[in-house]
This record gives sequence, C-alpha cells and structure tokens, in this order.
Amino acid sequence: MTDLLEPRAIGRPLERIEGRDKVRGLAPYAYEHPVSDPLYLHPVQATIARGRVVAIDTGGVAFPGVVAILTHENAPRLASDENRELWVLQSDEVHYRGQFVAAVIAETPEIAREAAGQVRVEYEQQAHDAELRPDRPDLVRPDKVNPSFDTDTQEGDVEAALATAAVRIDQTYTTPMEHNNPMEPHATIALWADDRLVLWDSTQSAHGVRKTMAAVCGLDPAQVRVISPHVGGGFGSKGTAHPHNALACLAALAVPGQPVKFALSRQQMFVVAGYRTPTVQRIRLGADADGRLTALAHDVVEQTSKVKEFAEQTAVASRIMYAAPNRRTSHRLAVLDVPVPSWMRAPGETPGMFAAEVALDELAVACGLDPIELRIRNDPESDPESGRPWSGRNLVGCLKEGARRFGWDVRDPKPGLRRLGDWLVGTGVASSTYPCYVFPGSKATIQYGTDQRYVVRIGAADIGTGAWTALTQIAADALGCPVEAVRLEIGDSDLPMATVAGGSSGISSWGSAIVAAATAFRERHGTDPGPGAREDAEITQPPASRTHALHSFGAQFAEVHVHADTGEIRVPRMLGVFSAGRIINPRTARSQFIGGMTMGLSMALHEESVMDARFGHVINHDLAGYHIAVNADVKDIDAVWLDEHDPHSNPMGSRGIGEIGIVGAAAAIANAVWHATGIRVRDLPITPDKVLS
Ligand code: MOS
Repeated sequence: MTDLLEPRAIGRPLERIEGRDKVRGLAPYAYEHPVSDPLYLHPVQATIARGRVVAIDTGGVAFPGVVAILTHENAPRLASDENRELWVLQSDEVHYRGQFVAAVIAETPEIAREAAGQVRVEYEQQAHDAELRPDRPDLVRPDKVNPSFDTDTQEGDVEAALATAAVRIDQTYTTPMEHNNPMEPHATIALWADDRLVLWDSTQSAHGVRKTMAAVCGLDPAQVRVISPHVGGGFGSKGTAHPHNALACLAALAVPGQPVKFALSRQQMFVVAGYRTPTVQRIRLGADADGRLTALAHDVVEQTSKVKEFAEQTAVASRIMYAAPNRRTSHRLAVLDVPVPSWMRAPGETPGMFAAEVALDELAVACGLDPIELRIRNDPESDPESGRPWSGRNLVGCLKEGARRFGWDVRDPKPGLRRLGDWLVGTGVASSTYPCYVFPGSKATIQYGTDQRYVVRIGAADIGTGAWTALTQIAADALGCPVEAVRLEIGDSDLPMATVAGGSSGISSWGSAIVAAATAFRERHGTDPGPGAREDAEITQPPASRTHALHSFGAQFAEVHVHADTGEIRVPRMLGVFSAGRIINPRTARSQFIGGMTMGLSMALHEESVMDARFGHVINHDLAGYHIAVNADVKDIDAVWLDEHDPHSNPMGSRGIGEIGIVGAAAAIANAVWHATGIRVRDLPITPDKVLS
C-alpha cells in the first residue's frame, strides 16, 4: 500500500474541534436533545434470577401523569428473537435478576419512577445458578470466541515439551467481573412518528443500532434513524444495542407521535449494559535454561449468560505474543443465570494479558533473568500463529525505550529490598498488544460547498476519543487543504454507513473511507472544484491483513509503594511506550493512552463487581461500592510512542489506539507489587488483604 498522504495536519496536536461546544453545553448528549413534550420511562426490574412472571398488578399505579404501563402482556410485539437479550417484554420468562419485566411511561421522570416502584410483580421462582466455578462438569466449548476467533488452538506437543522443560511455571490467575462506567449513562430518546423511528442514542455505532433495532422491531432500516453526535464514553458497553434500546423502542411504538426519554440509572447499568466476564486462567510455561520458551498453554474458564452467549477471546493474545514452538489455548464457558457479558475495553487482551504477563514475570524470576531480557529472547520474527510477517512489531523497541526513560537499569532484581519510610517500593514491567482492524463497510462522501469548504460526511462516532478532530485532520491531508476548509458531519445513521467505534478500528476504517473519497474527489474535480462537486467512496474489504500480521505493541512500566503495616497500595509512577503506527493527533492520542493505562490501574487495584450468587445480583452496583480510579489515585502517568508509519495498515499508516493502553497495565502493577513485597498476587484486584497475608 502506498502512502497517499502528505501529513500536514496529521501529527499535529490540534485541540478538539468540538471542545468549545462541549464546555459551553452546546454539544448535546443523547438525553439532552431538544424534543417537544417528551414522556419519560422508568423500568421495573425482576427481583428473581430465574423463573416466570405469573402476575403483574398495576392496579394501584393509575395516578395522574402515568401515561402507560407496559408489560409482557400488552407491549407491542417485536419481530425478531434472534438476539434473546433484546426480546424485551415479549414473554413471561426471567433469565437474570434485574431483567426488565415492565415499564412505566409518564409525564415526568419522577412520576415514572414512583409508579414503577409501585408495580407489583408475582413470580414463579426457579432454582438459579450464578456462580462461576472452574471445576463444574458442564462447562461448554463455544463454537467461536468474540468476535470470530477459533475457540481452541494447538501447535506441537505442549505436554511433552512441558515434561522436558528445564524451567516450568504452572499457575492459575483470576480476574473478576468488571463493569463499564462511562461518565454518560446509556440513554435513548425514542420517537415513533410518520412510520419512522428516530432514536437519539448514546452509542458507539449509529448504523449498528439502526440495523439491530430495525430487525428487532420488524422495520426497514430506512425507517430507523439513530442520532448520536456526542457520546460521553462507552468502552464497548455502547458498542452494541442493549435491552434499554429495545425497551425505548417499545415505548415509542406504544405512544406514537410522542418522544420517550429513557436514561439508565447507574445501578441499572450494572445489569443491562454488559460487563467484562470474570475469568479463571491456567497458564503453563516451559523454558530452557536460557529462558527460551518451549511450551505455552493458556486455558481459560469464564462465564456467559443462558439468554445469550458471549464468549470472550481471553487467550488470543497468547497465540501471537511469544515464540514458543509448542502452544495451546482454550476457552470454556460456564453458562449461568446472569446478565449477558459483553465488550469492555480490549475484551480478551485485557484479562488475558494480565495472566500471561504475570506468568512471564514468574518465569523471569524462575530463570534468574531480567523480565525485559526474557521478553527480548522470546520475541518472534513473524507471527507464530499465521506465519505472516509483522506489519511493524516493535515490542523490543518499546521495552528498551521504556527501560531507558523509566530508569530500569538501577533496578535490583531481588524483591522486597527497597523502602521509603514505611513503604515498600517496587517496579514492574509487562508487554501490551492489540490487533489493528480495518472493518469493511464504511463509506464517506465529500461535497464542496458554496462556503468554499468541503463537507465530509460519514456516520462515525466520537465517544470521547477525539474522532471529530482526527477525522478532520485526515480529510484535510487527503484533500490537501487546511483543516479550516473541512466541515465534518458524523454521528447520524442518515449519513453514509460507518462501522462501529470498537476494536480500536474507528479511525482506521473511517479514515480509509475518507481518504478514498478525497482521492476520488481530487481525481474527478481537481483542486478547484465548483460548488456542489461531490464524490463518495466505500471500503469494501480490509487492506493488508492477508499478507501481514497487523498488531500494535507496547511496554508498560509501573512503580508501586506498598505500606508495610496496612498493605495500602499506591502507584506513584506509570509509563507506557507504544508502537502503534502513525499517531494522527498527539494530544488526543496521549489522552487515549493514559486513559487506558488509568483504566488498567483501576483494574489492578480497585475494580470488582461482587456477585452475590445466592441472588444473582451485583451487590456493589453503584459508584459508592464499585471503586474506579480517580485523580487522587493517578500520580505521574505518561505515555509516549515510537515514531512510526505502518505501510500495511491503512492509507494513514496508523493502527488504532483506543484499547492498547489498558492491556498489560494491571500486569505491570502486579509485577511491581511482587517486586516491592515478594508476594505474588494472581487474583485481581490487588487489595491490601492480599499483600498482608
Ligand atoms: Mo471496544 S471494547 O471494542 O468498544
């Protein structure tokens, strides 16, 4: 692939073009779009984890302001039950605690909430199972893991290689259920009028929600419009439609001509917006006396929901990370009466690389090798999985640059030696990786306006990442014009088709479409176009993925302080060094990287959704009980990157950066905790009790 762009805007740290609107309250989020005479919805949620609704008593709820009460008996019928999670109010079945079983539509949110609280639901309760145990006999082997990876892989003879290895590691690591908590809760305004369904939705994919909800409601996609110009975070939880979308659509269909507003409460988000599945991961490593891996096995047990399967791809990074001639990976599911797990920033890589990179640290200790040197010795020349050449693997460069910046050379490899007053001090390192995806299907149009600006249209999503700005920069360079001459339109399914802001694929996919449209525009209309000149282009298939292995890499460094008496853990310093192709906008990119690393810090020390299996209920389902790292937890955190341009990824030479920042961050912290204390914590989060034992 040739480099189509002469980077003039790309690479510059432009401020967010929508930033001023955001701080002035002029950038509407889903719930804030002005609509006339809105109604408000509040759901009734199941109080059992499994069973049937046998009666719903709405008799006491007919007070002024209540417009309608929807139940499975009177709700409009949906058309497709292919996705059972979205089959809302269509039957009496209860599949998980907190499932929507009724909803009140009222003139104010207060009336809706009060009325919903007075709806009486009678259940026939059945025995449920909400406990993830790896030893259960009925684990299921999924056909594929998310989104379409092989469930198991095998290369060579792992058992034989382990049996003869000079050094062996065999440990089990666990990561808990975790929940996405974007600042903006999931919210939808739904309006059914003139045979058209309009959703103002907080989503990572306007076109995805349109397609899904059209199918669920039995509508032509052209009858559905999804509007989402600004989104306050998503991390994957807004990457697909969830039950609140279906419920909002049902409500709109029930009160034609009137918009219905539905914002999930923070507590409701812990039920219906997906979560990172808990994992139990056994890792076995075999190496020769020099630390060269001879065998690598990564076997995962995790949970899914009976109502819909989601199988996280937890072990896939282990397939490509290191050169081990004998490898195996596997995924097994406990199918439970729980809400449906889904995407959370780097699903698969995040929990998988926690386990794998702590295991590698254990191997380094067992071999008496520096953990950076161990990784360098096992760096594969080509992708061990596919055999293809890397489009640009520079993990070693990241490790070395990080070591230099972090001051790794003064580190004593022995644990528990350094002290600052009452605090034990340690440092740790871990690798990071994330695939580079370009999803086919995105389309862009470019039209020259009478204001002598180029209107660039694509239904992309900016979920806080900086896509508004980065796409403007890409369009400017592709057209060879100043950024001021570009007027971008995104966040609307009436715009040309755009794939999801997920899998760190957004800029790669949408940017490719914009570059293609700009190239076509210049070819047809030259550099002095007349008003109204217009061109479009579609990305029908991803570029180089058939010839090269496209992955980004990084090195994560952390310093931790552990209080000798209380076990309190602080992370005063984090550094990430990334190899992620060309960086479109250093300002927003840095924000993405350190945002991911902060989420990794949060994962390492705080985040855990505590499931009370007796009730099938996450008991700490709010921001008081579910601790997320805040400013006070984050000290000196920095992210840098190698100056790169990937000639195989896309016309911009970039590889996507939304997710890699979290990958490996928790492992670096866990490895630093070991270095500080000599205690190996293999179960996240690393809380004081675990280092005091
Ligand atoms: Mo990301 S979890 O692919 O939205």
